[in-house]
Amino acid sequence: MPTKATKRTARVKPGQREEETLRVLISHQRIRERVRHMAQEIRRDFPNEPVHLVGVLKGSVLFLADLARELGGEVSFDFISVSSYGKGMDSTGEVKMNKDLDVSIEGRSVLVVEDILDTGLTLKYLLRLFEERKPKHLRVAVLLDKAERRIADVKADYTGFVIPNEFVVGYGLDYDERYRNLPDVCVVRLGPRGKTKIEA
Ligand code: IMP
Repeated sequence: MPTKATKRTARVKPGQREEETLRVLISHQRIRERVRHMAQEIRRDFPNEPVHLVGVLKGSVLFLADLARELGGEVSFDFISVSSYGKGMDSTGEVKMNKDLDVSIEGRSVLVVEDILDTGLTLKYLLRLFEERKPKHLRVAVLLDKAERRIADVKADYTGFVIPNEFVVGYGLDYDERYRNLPDVCVVRLGPRGKTKIEA
């Protein structure tokens, strides 16, 4: 279900940058509740098994940390780094590996943990890569799904929120490496006059 934006806004001025406006789309409270339910769903599917979380750096870090704590049972994690976006909001459409996993996933119940599914090109690349490594199970959990932007034929097994086609930051997601530490997921918009003004 598409999420509803709240009216809460605020202003900060971190330096001489373009005008940016942040609007809370999903509050931290809603994220916490949804992550708890997702963890329950995942544990229902893997009741007695160790689950190996594979986080896609860097955007998934906060989501993975919360999900791991809610999952209970035996959980391990590892991280991979790929880039599909340059600076700013536009995708290059290319996926490049920056850092591979530290340990083998062969024979493990693997849950890929992604911040957001946009075109799906990153996830498609990762699933192809991981399938070749013969995991016992390969599932995907995404916090956010911009379903209308999909190009690649992929879908997540566990989805937090389906969101509209807006650029979002917070709870791990960035705009030029900023805003990852915001507790809420916010829509970011560039202002009309290229002036420094950020509302959050
Ligand atoms: P995809 O390959 O187009 O599905 O893009 C996946 C990656 O693009 C995500 O893991 C994010 O790092 C980045 N991305 C896509 N949409 C957004 C957004 O709205 N905000 C921040 N990052 C995004």
